Amino acid sequence: MHLLSQFLILQSVLLLFTAGSNSNHLQQRPFLLDDIAGRILNAQDFNTPGGVGVAVVQKTPESGWRVETKGYGLAKVDGTRVTEDTLFGIGSNSKLFDVLATGLLISNSSLSPRISWDLKIASFVPEWKLMDPTASSQTTIQDVMSHRTGMPRHDFIFPSDTVPDIYNNHMYTLLSYFPPLLTGIPFEIYVNDFILKPLGMNSTTYFSKTAVESGHLADGMGRDGVNQTEDVFGLGRVRAYPFWAPNEGNPGNVLSGLGGFISNVKDMEIWLQTLLGEGRHPADGETVIPEDVIRRVASGVTIAIPAA
Ligand SMILES: *[C@@H]1O[C@H](CO)[C@@H](O)[C@H](O)[C@H]1NC(C)=O
Ligand SMILES: *[C@@H]1O[C@H](CO)[C@@H](O)[C@H](O)[C@H]1NC(C)=O
Ligand SMILES: *[C@@H]1O[C@H](CO)[C@@H](O)[C@H](O)[C@H]1NC(C)=O
Repeated sequence: MHLLSQFLILQSVLLLFTAGSNSNHLQQRPFLLDDIAGRILNAQDFNTPGGVGVAVVQKTPESGWRVETKGYGLAKVDGTRVTEDTLFGIGSNSKLFDVLATGLLISNSSLSPRISWDLKIASFVPEWKLMDPTASSQTTIQDVMSHRTGMPRHDFIFPSDTVPDIYNNHMYTLLSYFPPLLTGIPFEIYVNDFILKPLGMNSTTYFSKTAVESGHLADGMGRDGVNQTEDVFGLGRVRAYPFWAPNEGNPGNVLSGLGGFISNVKDMEIWLQTLLGEGRHPADGETVIPEDVIRRVASGVTIAIPAA
């Protein structure tokens, strides 16, 4: 799969913002003004045929939340506009959910034996093997989350002789194998049952069939016949691509962990509040993801450029 090139042709993107300021000035004005659309899409320069969904959340001093969601531009080549319901494939942002699902497994005191961030993969995944014997025996859960197994991407290889980490999708497919391996629950169902459902993220799905049937799935848009020497942002003939990772509703799909998450800004608004609230449900304060898991995941691990 040429995943990166697939993502590059998707003109519709999901943007998320968190408001950093608590000033009264900001509290009185809406965050999302209509002229922001022009700035985000920069339509004149980029000629984009697509659109974006935007969610902004701000924790207020009274420990409530101020939230705004809005769609800009076109969701589909037929002229359907983006709304807060428009569903987008979030691509590799899906990988966060492999890591959090693993964090829930690590926190699960009913698992026997327990697993931990620094557990070696070879000790509990019977099928696991890398070509390098040291990497094969020593790689830990945290290593596979941090692109530091030494295994290259294969589907789109970047020059990487100066960096010790090598981005690849395969280790995230491995992480998505942990829930079925350790609990018998397929990855998509595990994320749904333990993260999405408790938070009320009811529009989110790993199944493109469900997204298509809702009528809200944005088209991936391509531009045919553009002479990029003349104008790299030429509009050309716009056409819709079928969803890059079709899924009829079957859990256990090899693409789900690395990029299968489909969501809208209504659900992302809940998700942003949950992350900023360190794993607590934004409305009732119940812990959905333990705080230490969120903190662990939010901490830098791999040094990408070793020279000081
Ligand atoms: C925790 O482990 C138990 C025992 O394997 C399993 O039944 C349950 O679904 C797991 N829950 C989570 C959130 O991992
Ligand atoms: C999601 O669905 C559940 C069950 O139908 C409902 O109780 C909940 O309010 C919904 N959440 C949102 C944010 O709409
Ligand atoms: C693209 O544009 C350049 C510059 O005008 C031109 O030289 C080239 O022949 C064009 N390519 C095609 C395939 O039309």
